[in-house]
Parts: sequence; structure tokens; C-alpha cells
Amino acid sequence: MPGVFNLSVDEAVKEVRETRALGVSSIILFGLPEKKDEVATGAWAEDGIVQRAARAIKSAVRDVAVMGDVCLCEYMSHGHCGIVKVKEKPGPQSLGAAAAPPAIAEYEIVNDASLELLARTSVSLARSGVDVIAPSDMMDGRVGAIRAALDEAGFANTPILSYAAKFSSGFYGPFREAADSAPQFGDRRSYQMDPANIREAMREIELDIEEGADMIMVKPAMPYLDVIAAARDRFDLPLAAYQVSGEYAMIEAAARNQWIDRERVMMESLVCIRRAGASMILTYYAKEAAKLLA
Ligand code: PBG
Ligand code: ZN
Repeated sequence: MPGVFNLSVDEAVKEVRETRALGVSSIILFGLPEKKDEVATGAWAEDGIVQRAARAIKSAVRDVAVMGDVCLCEYMSHGHCGIVKVKEKPGPQSLGAAAAPPAIAEYEIVNDASLELLARTSVSLARSGVDVIAPSDMMDGRVGAIRAALDEAGFANTPILSYAAKFSSGFYGPFREAADSAPQFGDRRSYQMDPANIREAMREIELDIEEGADMIMVKPAMPYLDVIAAARDRFDLPLAAYQVSGEYAMIEAAARNQWIDRERVMMESLVCIRRAGASMILTYYAKEAAKLLA
């Protein structure tokens, strides 16, 4: 992703200082662990990369709201957002195929065991000073599970920003490359949503609100402006939209070819997401947009 970098903890503190000074009031952290495994240890470890970054940022920059993306895919060796169970296939065939990645029909995402890790991750982030917990995994029941775990750990006032309507999208490509989090087999269609289905999106948002979400998010943003508008119309909670890596990369690529006016298209894209009804926008352009708006 041109112009977007993985940062060390020190660099992240510096970046947040600069960003805050430009007028951006909140940031979100994603982690890239040194090691990935099958229980996403890096996501919930007390010395995980996001935990360390959050502690450093909160002690260096006082008035910035730090959000923590909660998901397991960046920390899982297989790149899925939940725990994977490979279905046993009896007979010699499975021996021969042991080293090959499983085909789609041969594994499942174990929803409830994944909830436990997501809840553990959320509490660990809250303990590290993260102000807003933002689950992006799309497992069923995660908002309720995270809410209960936060309350029990003494974080009843820590809000949840739920990626409530997150579509199974090709627009996540550049992020997955940067975070090395593309699924090693299968895809995310069993837990992310069908791009063609807006009623399912409304139902997912409603369920997340019932489970205790304080804010809701639609992702991606620009190809889903109708979903943002429908959600704005129907629900009262603060509504966020995530302008994802592929949306950013397309603007950058076209601008590099001098096919479009970069700044103009960047600001237009943000204005249009706002017009559709988003009260918050998560964007790789935050810093630059803040400069232009100052
Ligand atoms: C997964 C996750 C995704 C992004 C961030 N966390 C989507 C995915 O890989 O399915 C994409 C963000 C972007 O494209 O900017 N929890
Ligand atoms: Zn994920």
C-alpha cells in the first residue's frame, strides 16, 4: 500500500503525536505479530504488539481515543478470523493429503471457541488502555460475549464499536497483503456477508445492537453507500464507515497514472461517505484530509 507502513511501537507513538496535532481525535490499531499460531496468541498476550503500542501511545499522547481492532486473522497461521477445525477424513486418502491445505469442505470455523479468544483479546486490550473495542471478526454472538467479558473485568464503560455490516470483499486485498493475513485455504464467506444482500446487513446490525454494541460500522464504504444510508435511516447509534485498503489503493493508483486529481477525489470520496450518513470515517487518508481541512 503506497504511503502506508507497518510501524514499530516508537514510530507509532510519533505518528499518533503528529496525527493528533493535525486535529485527528482518534486512531485505530492493528497488530502484526512476530509469530503466528493456531490460537492467535499474539492477539491476547499481555505483551502483544497492540497491547504494547496502546500502553505507549496512551502514556505519551493524552487526549487521543485509541481504538483496538479485535480479530484473530492477523495472529493465526492459517489467516482465518476464528479457530479452525480440520474435519478428519478417514482412510489412506487423508494420509496422502496430510501436508496439503484442506479444501473448503474439509474445515470449519469453530464459532464459540473463537468467542472465548475474542473476549480474552478485548479484555487484554482494555487493560492496556485501549478506549474503544472494535471487533471485526464477524463471528456470531461476539458483541455479547465481549460485552460480558469487559463488564466482568471491570470495563463496563469501555464502548464497543462493532463492524456490524462487514462484507466479504475483494477490496480488502492490499490490507491482507500488508498484514500477511490472507486465508491460507478457503475464504471468509462463511462469516463475512454477501455483497448482494442488504437485508442481511440490516439484520446483522440489529443483532449487534441487541447484544450491546455502542457504535456500528459498515465496511467497505464507497461501494456500500446504500447500506450506510439504510443503516443511518434505521438505527440511532453513531455510525462509522471504513474506507478500506482497496478503495484507497484504487485512488492512489489512478492518481499515480495522472488519470484523476488525487486530492480532489480523496476529499470527494470522504464527503460522499459522510453524505450517505456516516458520522465517523475510518480512512487511510485521515492525516492528509485533516491537513486539507485545517
Ligand atoms: C479482518 C480485517 C480485514 C481488514 C482489516 N481487518 C478484512 C479481511 O481481511 O477480511 C481489511 C481492512 C482494509 O482493507 O483496509 N479482520
Ligand atoms: Zn479477521
